[in-house]
Amino acid sequence: MHSFLLFYYLRALFKRLFMSEQKRASFGGKLSVILVAAGSAIGLGALWRFPYIAGKHGGAAFLLVFLLSIFVVGIPAMLAEFAVGRRTKKNAVGAFRTLSKRWSWLGYSGVLGALLISGYYYLIAGWSLQYFADSVTGGMFNSPLPFKEQFDLFQASWKPLIWGVVFILMTHFIVARGVEKGIEKASKVMMPMLFVILIIMAVRVAFMPGAAEGYKFFLSCDFAEAFKAETIMMAIGQAFFSLSVGMGCMVTYASYFKQDNNMVSTSFNVSILTLLVSVLAGLVIFPAVFSAGLQPTEGPALVFVTLPEIFKGMPLASVWAAIFFLLVILASLTSTISFHEVLTAYFAEEFSLTRKRAAMVTTVVSIVLSTVTFFSLFGIDFFNIFDYVTANVLMPLGAMFTCIMVMWFMKKDFMKDELTNNGLCNRRLTPVILFMLRFITPVLILYIFIKNFI
Ligand code: PHE
Repeated sequence: MHSFLLFYYLRALFKRLFMSEQKRASFGGKLSVILVAAGSAIGLGALWRFPYIAGKHGGAAFLLVFLLSIFVVGIPAMLAEFAVGRRTKKNAVGAFRTLSKRWSWLGYSGVLGALLISGYYYLIAGWSLQYFADSVTGGMFNSPLPFKEQFDLFQASWKPLIWGVVFILMTHFIVARGVEKGIEKASKVMMPMLFVILIIMAVRVAFMPGAAEGYKFFLSCDFAEAFKAETIMMAIGQAFFSLSVGMGCMVTYASYFKQDNNMVSTSFNVSILTLLVSVLAGLVIFPAVFSAGLQPTEGPALVFVTLPEIFKGMPLASVWAAIFFLLVILASLTSTISFHEVLTAYFAEEFSLTRKRAAMVTTVVSIVLSTVTFFSLFGIDFFNIFDYVTANVLMPLGAMFTCIMVMWFMKKDFMKDELTNNGLCNRRLTPVILFMLRFITPVLILYIFIKNFI
């Protein structure tokens, strides 16, 4: 009896002393998980990237292919990542390595993706800080310059870098506070706010003169455009970018899921919310663009040049502008947190650093990368290269290989057990998802990839 007690006591002591570092945080209930994952997904991808890429690739045609991409490739790939993360409870690199040494490079490709995104995402998020400040101080509407020129002037100054760094520090502050207190709390407040603001904006825009042209552009489909390989590739890339799939982000987040989380319903909820926000963003931006007599093909500056134009004609212009850019800031912040976390978890666990130190390393690296992009060192256009390579190469291939790994190289029932929580849920839906994961999703990604690049 005594030796038993002694054994338990020693074991508890051992755990306390040596394993305390090992105890991983986890997200709270079901709603928190959805909000946190949707927080990662919904960001500049839906609010800034989706409208301008859809504007370039046929509006409604793009929307249609994007929708299909989400269901055929996005959701299955997200589920594969969830499974890898929740099963191993490790950072991206550790997770893939734990499942199979041969596949650990997939984790590194995720870390690389997070680095590339860090190289430009903060800078764009920083634009919205500047625009927010300009709306609050009234500078935006008092200036005699047209908005396009205001934008170009801003780009030619140091300000984008400074605001980018401010954005990195804001992200740092939340990530360093940890998973529950920082990430979860922030998402719970920010995500619902975002929805409310966006809906108000969509209603407001509907009453603008000329808005109908915008709805027409965004909602009537040109099928010839929809079936071009380039449109499909851009839509698949957008689906991955927007769902944060294909670079270890959902692996990292799922490592904080509780074991009984229904991943299938989580992935559906997250995807539908992302789709909803993208469509809402389109419904705000395209009517606005046409109403102002501008072009939907404006490119990355679309949101920043066209929207102030709209606000200008409205009563309380500064207030509307401030609200909108606050929305962009909040949405971006819940996304920057997530790729910061990919790197922070990686540095913390792979190099045995404390969380605070790891976050610090990530922050410094992010500042360096953003500076390099800002100055476009060596005459290279890092901004576009980073964006193109992550969304159209790294993320699709990362997702494809993740699907291949979980379906073809793990134990036979690995995915089935994960999707059904060992037979407890989703039993009817699972065979369909497994079939897509095994055959359709990876083959489709490969096909489009080859068609487009070779
Ligand atoms: N999904 C985010 C957005 O749309 C961007 C992102 C990509 C975040 C990859 C994390 C990982 O803004």
